[in-house]
Amino acid sequence: MTRPLIIAPSILSADFSKLGEEVRAADVAGGDWIHLDVMDGHFVPNITFGPPVIKAMRAHSTKPFDVHLMIAPADAYLAAFADAGADVITVHAEAGPHLDRSLQAIRSLGKKAGVALNPATSESAIEHVLDRLDLVCVMTVNPGFGGQAFIPAMVEKVRRIKVMIGNRPIDIEVDGGITAETAPLVTAAGANVLVAGNAAFKGGPNAYAGNIAGIRAAAR
Ligand code: DX5
Ligand code: ZN
Repeated sequence: MTRPLIIAPSILSADFSKLGEEVRAADVAGGDWIHLDVMDGHFVPNITFGPPVIKAMRAHSTKPFDVHLMIAPADAYLAAFADAGADVITVHAEAGPHLDRSLQAIRSLGKKAGVALNPATSESAIEHVLDRLDLVCVMTVNPGFGGQAFIPAMVEKVRRIKVMIGNRPIDIEVDGGITAETAPLVTAAGANVLVAGNAAFKGGPNAYAGNIAGIRAAAR
């Protein structure tokens, strides 16, 4: 089953002093989803933004908001992110002891449920929750920062997950170090949602459309 190719610019690499404008610019430049990285300074060594800031950005685009929670615990905040306007909510498999419960909670809020896997986490972590999943996010860097180098060993993990999910309607997302150079490696292995931070936002707003088109063309 072929899933549509989605390019999701990551706001982590945008100018935080003008988030509304940046969300609009990423939308107009051809981003299919807007990827929002929530970090708590505990699960990952960086802090970004939470539900009120996402709610403020929500007014600036009608494209799906893909909210990547790098927080532990996550469950207590799921409803707040749903209310803020998330369409996809992704929790980390490593962030709590009750992944199955977290995924059920996300779907019960009417949102798409995702699981992210750190580079060292085996794909076996999702084996028993496949039917509760709408998206698997394979971290292709260690979460916490934009602009890191892609970890090539993750291509094989994407390939294994593609086989595991069979014909279930699950998106395979890759996050970290995605550029026009690395995009074809991951799409060939089965990924269809490409998060791009630095590669999408480099060069300022006038460059966004070309950056996104370049990743999309390379990925095909
Ligand atoms: C990293 C974040 C990523 C980040 C990717 O922890 O989850 O979404 O923005 O940035 P690049 O594409 O620059 O590696
Ligand atoms: Zn992310």
